[in-house]
Amino acid sequence: MSVETVSVSLGDRAYDILIGAGLLARAGKEIAARLPRARLAVVTDTNVAGHHLEALVAGLERSGISVTPIELPPGEKTKSFDALQEVVDGILAARLERGDAVVALGGGVIGDLAGFASGIVRRGMRFVQMPTSLLAQVDSSVGGKTGINSSHGKNLVGVFHQPQLVLADTDVLDTLPAREFRAGYAEVAKYGLIDRPGFFAWLEENWRDIFAGGPARTRAIAESCRAKADVVARDEFETGDRALLNLGHTFGHALEAATGYDSTRLVHGEGVAIGMALAHRFSSRLNLCSMDDALRVEAHLREVGLPWRMADIAGGLPDAERLLAYVAQDKKVTRGELTFILTRGIGQSFIARNVPSSEVLSFLRDSLPA
Ligand SMILES: NC(=O)c1ccc[n+]([C@@H]2O[C@H](COP(=O)([O-])OP(=O)(O)OC[C@H]3O[C@@H](n4cnc5c(N)ncnc54)[C@H](O)[C@@H]3O)[C@@H](O)[C@H]2O)c1
Ligand SMILES: [Zn+2]
Repeated sequence: MSVETVSVSLGDRAYDILIGAGLLARAGKEIAARLPRARLAVVTDTNVAGHHLEALVAGLERSGISVTPIELPPGEKTKSFDALQEVVDGILAARLERGDAVVALGGGVIGDLAGFASGIVRRGMRFVQMPTSLLAQVDSSVGGKTGINSSHGKNLVGVFHQPQLVLADTDVLDTLPAREFRAGYAEVAKYGLIDRPGFFAWLEENWRDIFAGGPARTRAIAESCRAKADVVARDEFETGDRALLNLGHTFGHALEAATGYDSTRLVHGEGVAIGMALAHRFSSRLNLCSMDDALRVEAHLREVGLPWRMADIAGGLPDAERLLAYVAQDKKVTRGELTFILTRGIGQSFIARNVPSSEVLSFLRDSLPA
């Protein structure tokens, strides 16, 4: 069994991400080695629990670790104050102390919620991420952002709280719905497009093996974690470079909002895929990036089965003015000026401030299906 280790260098809060097949079964050993004598609360959702909770709990108990499972309904609605209260009460009812640990077994929803709970119960408990979606393995479990949604918007309430360990078992992705896997893949491609052109070229050649499982999947996830960990180590609290991780997200978030966050129409990674294609097209229109590179991005997204243009969204979109309003509402807007992640080519993205909204508007007009 080959396990790759990616270290997140954050001084005294540094931690390892282990990536590979079969890690769920080994979780007891890995956790006991780093958090001796810790008791655990395992937070999960009912989908993930149905596939993987029993095996995890059995393995942990074999290592002599006592476990309290806390199961929640699946879906974005679970990133709520009500669910937070349920998790916090569950941790306290199990009488866990600061030295004990909260484990998030699930996708980004569970990771963000359980991470937030672990960051505030007893002013901060230890935390282990066991991401089970591709998006969570390559993105949300790395970097220490935790939180829930508010009626005012997504991810508005939370804390930075780094885990002590991330265990990404690449086999658990076999039970993930195909659409969710593809959506997570958009974030993998994103790292290539940000600043790893060699990785993007490798993805173009090897994406089928990543979808099938095996060593290519492990390698792609490890490279993605390395890419994110690098950015996070440089800029933990997003005062600068970390914004590069938002490549494709300004347009993507606007499309998610414009489709009413209706996951039957568009899931996050699909919005990001279209957003990345648009970011390259827009960059090419501004004479920053070649049209060939923009076409190459579109071709790859299309080949893996991701949507890559606004016309791929079923059910119609609002007009360009309305879309621009959604773009401007995105939280990456400071004092009314539009900040975009633009690119000079594949793997050459950069933060562009003061992008004129008139340029964005005319670009959206020309990109919307007739
Ligand atoms: N903290 C961060 O830095 C960060 C970064 C990106 C995204 N996020 C957050 O992550 C969330 C999205 O994460 P997500 O895409 O993982 O969504 P999710 O947690 O809702 O998981 C997607 C679906 O897949 C199911 N699932 C997960 N793993 C499974 C498995 N192995 N087998 C079968 N079903 C499985 C879930 O039950 C759910 O229905 C959003 O709330 C977003 O805001 C956070
Ligand atoms: Zn994303």
